[in-house]
Amino acid sequence: MSTLAVYPGSFDPLTNGHVDIISRGARLFDRIIVAMLVNAEKQPLFTTQERVDICRAVFKGQPNVEIDTFDGLLVDYVARRGANVIVRGLRAISDFEYEFQMALMNRRLDGGIETIFMMPAEQYTYISSRLIKEVFSLGGRVDGLVPELVEARLRDKVLARGK
Ligand code: PNS
Repeated sequence: MSTLAVYPGSFDPLTNGHVDIISRGARLFDRIIVAMLVNAEKQPLFTTQERVDICRAVFKGQPNVEIDTFDGLLVDYVARRGANVIVRGLRAISDFEYEFQMALMNRRLDGGIETIFMMPAEQYTYISSRLIKEVFSLGGRVDGLVPELVEARLRDKVLARGK
């Protein structure tokens, strides 16, 4: 039986912490679907399509990594895709409470779906999409924390805003 996992999130933008978790998941499961929540925030920096395009470009050449979008309840999407595992990354204790709540709520909604937590490499434990956006918009360096393509797209966004 092949194993299929879903790694859901906003990915606004994709960070090297996400890339690390996706790569670990791709080694652990036969296939992993990176599922982007549509309209995660009212004002996301990147549109859903931009986030999908970035993720597809970064994971080009990795056939067992699929990029998709979803809206509505995560468990409904996971069931629809025929998966029974949700992957989430855990960086610090501070992530635990929110993740614990979501995992238990999702289990209540669908007891056939299991949430699995994975730790990213230590050098990514403090990175979040929110911090990347804040630091970059204030002129700070984010190289090494996000894929080069994300850095380039962040630059494009800032330049477009300056026009
Ligand atoms: O990367 P994020 O933004 O922390 O991801 C959060 C996400 C997308 C996993 C969560 O908000 C979610 O699953 N949203 C879909 C709606 C849903 O199912 N909500 C109930 C979760 S218990």
